[in-house]
Amino acid sequence: MAEQRSSQWYGGTDRNAYIHRAWMRRGLPEHAFDGRPHIAIANTASDLTPCNSHLNEVAESVKQGIWEAGGVPMNLPVVSLGETLVRPTAMLWRNMAAMATEEMLRANPVDGVVLLGGCDKTIPSLLMAAASVDLPAVVMPGGPMLTGTFRGVALGCGTDVWRLSEEVRAGTLSEKAFMRSESSMIRSRGHCNTMGTASTMACVAEALGVIVPGVAGIPAPDSRLLQSAHETGRLVVELVEQGRRPSNLLSRGSFLNAIVALAAIGGSTNAVVHLLAIAGRLGIELSLDDFDRTGAAVPLLADLQPAGRHLMEDFHRAGGLQAVLREVRDLLDPDALTVTGRPLVEYLDEAQIWDKTVIRPRDEPLQIAAGIAVLYGNLAPGGAVIKPAAASPELMSHRGRALVFDSVEDMHARIDDPGLDVDASSVLVLRGCGPRGYPGMPEVANMPLPAKLLELGVRDMVRICDGRMSGTAYGTVVLHVAPEAAAGGPLGLVETGDPVILDVEARRLELDIPQRDLEQRKPSAAMRAGFAAPARGWERLYVDHVMQANQGADLDFLVGSSGHRVSRESH
Ligand code: FES
Repeated sequence: MAEQRSSQWYGGTDRNAYIHRAWMRRGLPEHAFDGRPHIAIANTASDLTPCNSHLNEVAESVKQGIWEAGGVPMNLPVVSLGETLVRPTAMLWRNMAAMATEEMLRANPVDGVVLLGGCDKTIPSLLMAAASVDLPAVVMPGGPMLTGTFRGVALGCGTDVWRLSEEVRAGTLSEKAFMRSESSMIRSRGHCNTMGTASTMACVAEALGVIVPGVAGIPAPDSRLLQSAHETGRLVVELVEQGRRPSNLLSRGSFLNAIVALAAIGGSTNAVVHLLAIAGRLGIELSLDDFDRTGAAVPLLADLQPAGRHLMEDFHRAGGLQAVLREVRDLLDPDALTVTGRPLVEYLDEAQIWDKTVIRPRDEPLQIAAGIAVLYGNLAPGGAVIKPAAASPELMSHRGRALVFDSVEDMHARIDDPGLDVDASSVLVLRGCGPRGYPGMPEVANMPLPAKLLELGVRDMVRICDGRMSGTAYGTVVLHVAPEAAAGGPLGLVETGDPVILDVEARRLELDIPQRDLEQRKPSAAMRAGFAAPARGWERLYVDHVMQANQGADLDFLVGSSGHRVSRESH
């Protein structure tokens, strides 16, 4: 076996090696320092990240696998982001989590890493870190929770919160019943059970090749999850021995496979910014247009909330990601590898659909072409995205008057005003929610509909925003508009009453006013007042360096890799 990176700390008889070993002994056997691989378990377990609170138990199984394969496991708690709690939005901290994890992996005697994540931002931040430090890495996903039910009906995390809260606002559900449903929502350990961002990122990571094939989507309480964790621990030792690193494992084909998977499962739009950011760390060319070119024509095969009816427990029972990928095998890059060293497509031979109500065969898709569409026009010169699978077909070609909100607070203050000049054909425009403007690009694009329209039975409207949308949300929502209003994008120039054209088939998003008139406009004072640059700290660094959504919203100086070498010693 080649000399391990960790031997630079533990090998030899000098004073420094003495210090490194002596402080680490605390029960480790003598052979822990004989040159075998030391594997970090980058662990996002946290009581404040409830979706990941069970990960310490998963880490124990990973550890057993590492020991068994001849490695030495090291638990490394890293920054954890709980989607539901962290303010102002977990996305503000994704790049910080990635940076901190990258630096700690580089700074410590680590030869390989298991990336233990679950909740939305945790797998993306861990993968960005692993890509930049370029150490052998395998993702171990925490798994979705089991299906909760309320009054005999399954509850989808997130998706049904949006649905039920709109029913309360429409007056068709009592507040008391809404409150009762709360304790039924979260039935078990694990992350959201819809095809929200967490489930999407686990599936996308498996399609990318960085999860042991067949593991994404195993429910968190399922005993097979711990078995897979054990196997993952074993595998990472093998990866170290064979020198398989993100830079020599992942290719452009791996990312295109991830885009095919994203479309076929009807996954979250958040995967777009995360995949762009991960590819950016590896120097792999990937653009917004690749999502449209590669994914838009892919059929939607998974009938899962928010685009469909079922939940992740059903998905796993029905055959899971591998059953879906087998149906679109001809669209996958046959050479793209997985962490096992074998191509992704080789694992699809035995995959099977066990329940066609959950996973459709290719010739009976839920939608023929449902992948994310990328729109351009004078409202989004850098691009914007829409998820047709979660939108209303009758709104995909639409012309309506803009109703503009300068901020989330402005929207909340006015949306239920009975005097609001709005009808079902209006286009709701929300700005000031991009990476720089909020800051952090919150999940607010699926803004609530005006109460007076809800009461009339309206359940969807065209909405346009420079922010993101929860992976569990649905609606005809155009999001990730780039450049954002705070970066001088034309979204900041829209005025209430302007005619807006959305034509998804033509990939068009336009403000239907003469270009000359648009150029003469200035951003409104109310909008500009919302963009006070933070004075200090991470937010300051973030605002000064964050890139736009069409570039993955990474920090400009974090793009690329620094590798794992550390050239200087501390003493
Ligand atoms: Fe953690 Fe949804 S809140 S995955």
